[in-house]
Amino acid sequence: MISLTVNGKAYKADVAPDTPLLWVLRDTLGLTGTKYGCGIAQCGACTVHVNGEPVRSCTAPVAQAAGKKVTTIEGLARDGSHPLQKAWIAEEVPQCGYCQSGQIMSAAALLAKNKSPSDADIDRAMSGNICRCGTYNRIRKAIHAAAATMRR
Ligand code: FES
Ligand code: FES
Repeated sequence: MISLTVNGKAYKADVAPDTPLLWVLRDTLGLTGTKYGCGIAQCGACTVHVNGEPVRSCTAPVAQAAGKKVTTIEGLARDGSHPLQKAWIAEEVPQCGYCQSGQIMSAAALLAKNKSPSDADIDRAMSGNICRCGTYNRIRKAIHAAAATMRR
C-alpha cells in the first residue's frame, strides 16, 4: 500500500511500488487531466509536480512520490483561476489540447522559481514539452502574460 498526497488529499493506493505514477493518477485515482503521450519521458504530456518539481509521471515509479506532495493539473487551482490557466484561455493557446496540461504544469514550475522569465528561460524550461500542433508561440506569450499578472 502506497500513501500519497495528491492535490492536498490523502490517498492509499494498493499498487506495486514500481507502477508508474501516471497509471496510479489516471487509473487508480481517476485524475485523467494528466495525459499519456510517449511513455518514455520524451514528450512531457504527463508532467505533474512532486514537491513542486516537474516530474514525468509516465516513468516515475509511484514509490518515488510516496509521502510527498503531488500536484496535477486538477489541483493547480480548484476553479481554474491560476494566472496560467487564465492566460491560456485569453491567448487561446490549445489546439488539440492533448499536450497542454503537461505544458501548464511545466510553466507553473518555471514561474514558481522565476517571476520574470526571458524568452530563453521559457524555451529552456519548456524544451521537454512537445506539442505536435506547434502552439509554442502562444505558449510563450501566455507564460509572459501569466508572469506579468503574478508580479502585480
Ligand atoms: S508520456 Fe511522459 S513524457 Fe511523454
Ligand atoms: S495542442 Fe495539440 S499537441 Fe499540443
